[in-house]
Amino acid sequence: MNILLLGSGGREHALAWKMKQSVLCDQLFIAPGNAGTGLCGTNVALGINDFEGIAQFCLDQKIGMVVVGPEEPLVKGIYDYLVSQPLLKDVLVVGPSAEASQLEGSKAFSKHFMQRHNIPTAGYAEFTSNNFEEGKLYIARHTLPVVLKADGLAAGKGVVIAQTHADALAAFEEMIVHKQFGSASAKVVIEEFLQGIELSLFVLTDGKDYKIIGHAKDYKRIGEGDTGLNTGGMGCVSPVPFADEIFLKKVEEKVVIPTIKGLAAEQLVYKGFVFIGLMNNSGEPFVIEYNCRMGDPETEVLMPRIKNDLVEMFAALHDNRLNEIEMLYDNRAVATIMAVSGGYPGDYQKGIAIKGLDQSLPEDVLIFHAGTSEKDGKIVTNGGRVLAVSAFGNDLKEAVLKSKSVLKQIEFDGMYYRRDIGYEF
Ligand code: AMP
Ligand code: GLY
Repeated sequence: MNILLLGSGGREHALAWKMKQSVLCDQLFIAPGNAGTGLCGTNVALGINDFEGIAQFCLDQKIGMVVVGPEEPLVKGIYDYLVSQPLLKDVLVVGPSAEASQLEGSKAFSKHFMQRHNIPTAGYAEFTSNNFEEGKLYIARHTLPVVLKADGLAAGKGVVIAQTHADALAAFEEMIVHKQFGSASAKVVIEEFLQGIELSLFVLTDGKDYKIIGHAKDYKRIGEGDTGLNTGGMGCVSPVPFADEIFLKKVEEKVVIPTIKGLAAEQLVYKGFVFIGLMNNSGEPFVIEYNCRMGDPETEVLMPRIKNDLVEMFAALHDNRLNEIEMLYDNRAVATIMAVSGGYPGDYQKGIAIKGLDQSLPEDVLIFHAGTSEKDGKIVTNGGRVLAVSAFGNDLKEAVLKSKSVLKQIEFDGMYYRRDIGYEF
């Protein structure tokens, strides 16, 4: 089968690397891809939101499966668009419908969904310009810290954790009155702050059955010791030592099963990944958020740990065979560390040559490209997050050390990475 993967980050390089190993994968195309995905298949100059171009490409290249990496095309309805094309009716699209993608695309939708299905989450209320004054009163009476979330997609910047009422009111006004995130902040969810340790769980579902494909902990802040600005993710580890069997069982019973049952009961069409952001509050799981896709850099630690044929799992979403699959994991730990451009998550330069990618790698280390491209036969930086170096280890410490020993031999002007990924373990 010929496969088209949409996206261009480290997540997509890890997915491409994994899918390319499948006996079911003939030609693999990645749109638009990066210099790393180009090593696993053929990069195609198509935008992820160019639905017509993607449909035409599927026809031209006899694509049998489309795998959607990022959330934007999902929330914009790529699933629905492709399955409604009569000539593409046999193409297996991996991802949720636009309606189901609202689990990520609208914080209010996901909070209502959790409420309807008794899924533990922080208490909340939602406000628009119509009840702005009421919202101000609600904030003034709220315990601190208080969490404000722009309802729609805001490129990971739509959440404010305010330590004072004045800060919360200012952020609220910025979102609703000054339309900080345009229509994405026309509605704002205000919720309780959850104490605890964060963890993400990943599920593959056909909307009725599910497989838990793993869990991971992401390090979001730019600085060591979890300080400084938020980023897309500076590193990741899996498995997470504090996620013991008892906690994971609670997550499955209190969160995963009601989520999948909720999708089925509401007939939400969902053939893809559910990324569940969780807080472990004294041993009890609470959902912070749903995403309708895999995480980045979570994918760079989970794909190496999964032993199953990923393409077979994707195909099983479309013929009720998901339950027949037994998940097989590599029991070793995996850590990934992101090398980022100088200045990230603020402004940074692109087009800087990367040295050290030709080093001979130990067989238990993988370099996944995130923001890279090829220029005059050389690999250069092309984004804030540039490379994710993933390594296996008998424990997380060993995995982190191996990743760092490879990173030490990689170099580009301004390169930075956190030396403390996995510091708590
Ligand atoms: P989100 O965009 O929903 O992933 O939120 C970004 C980050 O804000 C999360 O990863 C958490 O670290 C934090 N966060 C979001 N909601 C809450 C909450 N209710 N309590 C504590 N932290 C939160
Ligand atoms: N690493 C967090 C995300 O992919 O949203």
